Amino acid sequence: MIALGLLLVLFFAIGMPPIAGDPEIAEKDWEAEAAGSAELPRDWPNIDTDIDPELANLGYQLFFDPILSADNDLSCAHCHHPDKGFGDGLTVTQNAAGEKLNRHSSSLWNIVYVPSLFWDGRVDTLEEQTRIPLLAANEMNQNPEELIVELEAIDVYVAAFDALFDDGVTFDNLTTAIAEFERTLISNGSAFDAYAEGDLDAMSAQQLRGLAIFRSDTTRCIGCHIAPAFTDQSFRVVGVPDNGSNDKGRGDITPGLEYAFKVPTLRNAVLSAPYMHNGEIVIIEDVVDFYGKDAQKFEQSQVDFQVEMGFNLTEDERNDLVSFLYALVDETIPEEYWEGLNYIDAEGHILIPDSVPSGSDFVVKAFDNPTRVGGGTQ
Ligand code: HEC
Ligand code: HEC
Repeated sequence: MIALGLLLVLFFAIGMPPIAGDPEIAEKDWEAEAAGSAELPRDWPNIDTDIDPELANLGYQLFFDPILSADNDLSCAHCHHPDKGFGDGLTVTQNAAGEKLNRHSSSLWNIVYVPSLFWDGRVDTLEEQTRIPLLAANEMNQNPEELIVELEAIDVYVAAFDALFDDGVTFDNLTTAIAEFERTLISNGSAFDAYAEGDLDAMSAQQLRGLAIFRSDTTRCIGCHIAPAFTDQSFRVVGVPDNGSNDKGRGDITPGLEYAFKVPTLRNAVLSAPYMHNGEIVIIEDVVDFYGKDAQKFEQSQVDFQVEMGFNLTEDERNDLVSFLYALVDETIPEEYWEGLNYIDAEGHILIPDSVPSGSDFVVKAFDNPTRVGGGTQ
C-alpha cells in the first residue's frame, strides 16, 4: 500500500508536471498520458562504471595529444571537442588535410551506456572503436609500431604506462586508457534530472511545456529518445535528407535496415550542432521542423511510422520543445566520479589542456560555443 501510495505520488509529481500560468496549450492537446511511455525512468543500465582514475588520466592525455596521428597534427579531441558537445562543429568530419569523411562526428557524452558504437552500430567496445580512427588512412593514419616508438621517447608516458601496466607502452594499453577516459564522460545532472528527482522548480515553465510536447502523442519524440539516456539505442529510419553519399547506415550491416541510423542521445545534443549523422540540419529549431514535415522518403526503406505521421506545432510550441532540449544540457561529470581525476575543474567540467606530453603545438583550444546560449528561460 505504502509503495503504491509512493508510486502514485511519483506519478503525479513526474508524470503530470504542474504548469502554472500556461493558458496557450491546453493539456488535452499534449496528450502526454496517451504517449505510451508516460513514465520518465531514472534508472541507467546497470553497467560497470567503476573507473580507475589513473588510467582515465592517462587516457585524457592521449585523447588530446596529436602525437597519436601519423603527422602529429590530429588528436581525438579535434573531432570530439569538449566545448562542441564532443563533436567537431562540422557538417561532416574532416581530417587534418581538410579531406571530408562521410559522416558527422558523434558526441561522446554517456558513451559508456551505448552498446553499439558509430552511427551504424558496427562496433561493440570502446577499446575496439579506438583502433579505427587511429589506423584509418583518412583519419589519423597511424602505424602502431611507430606510435609506440614515439611514445616510448616521452618520459611522462613511459612512467604512466609502466605504473599502470606490466607490459608498459603497448597499442592495446593505449586503447584501454582512452576507453577509460571516455567512460568518465557521464552527464546526468541536467535541469531535467533535478526535476525528475523531485525538484519541481528545476525546469522553467517553458521547458516543462516542452517536456509535455516531447512526450506527447503529437510528436512521439519519447518513442525513440527515452529517458534516462534519451535513446532506446535502436536503429531507425527517420528520413534525414541524404547528402548525396547514399549512406545506408545500419543497412550495410543488417539488410532491411537501409537508411536506419542509431538513435543518438539527446543529452548535450544541442551543443553538437550541426545535427544528424550527416550534419545536414544546421540549427536545432530545424530539427524539430524536420520531424514535423520534412522527412525524406526512401525507396528501399520505410520511414519509421512514428516520424512518418508528422505533426504541426505552432512556433511557440516548437520553441518550447527546443527549450526542453536545453534542459538536457549538463557538461559536468557527476561528483561520484571525481576522485583522482586530474582533468576537471571544481564543478566537474572537462578542462582543455594547455599542453600535452608530446609538446605538440596542435592541441585544440577552448571554444566559446554559441549553442550554449539558447533554449529560452520563461
Ligand atoms: C577525423 C575526425 C575524427 C577523429 C580524429 C576521431 N574521430 Fe571519433 N568519430 C568521428 C566520426 C565522424 C564518427 C562517426 C563515424 C561513424 O559513425 O561512422 C566518430 C565516432 C566515434 C565514436 C562512436 C560514438 C558513438 O556514439 O557511437 C567514438 C567512441 C569515437 N569516435 C572516439 C574517438 C577516439 C577515442 C578518437 C581518437 C583515438 C577518435 N574518435 C578520433 C570522427 C573522428
Ligand atoms: C522513430 C524514432 C525517433 C523519433 C520518434 C524521434 N527521433 Fe530524434 N532521432 C532518431 C534517430 C534515428 C536520429 C538520428 C538520425 C540520423 O542521423 O539520420 C535522431 C536524431 C535526433 C537529433 C539529433 C541529435 C544529434 O546529435 O545530431 C535530435 C536533436 C532529435 N533526434 C530530437 C528529436 C525530437 C525533438 C523528436 C520529436 C519531435 C524526435 N527526435 C523524434 C530517432 C527518433
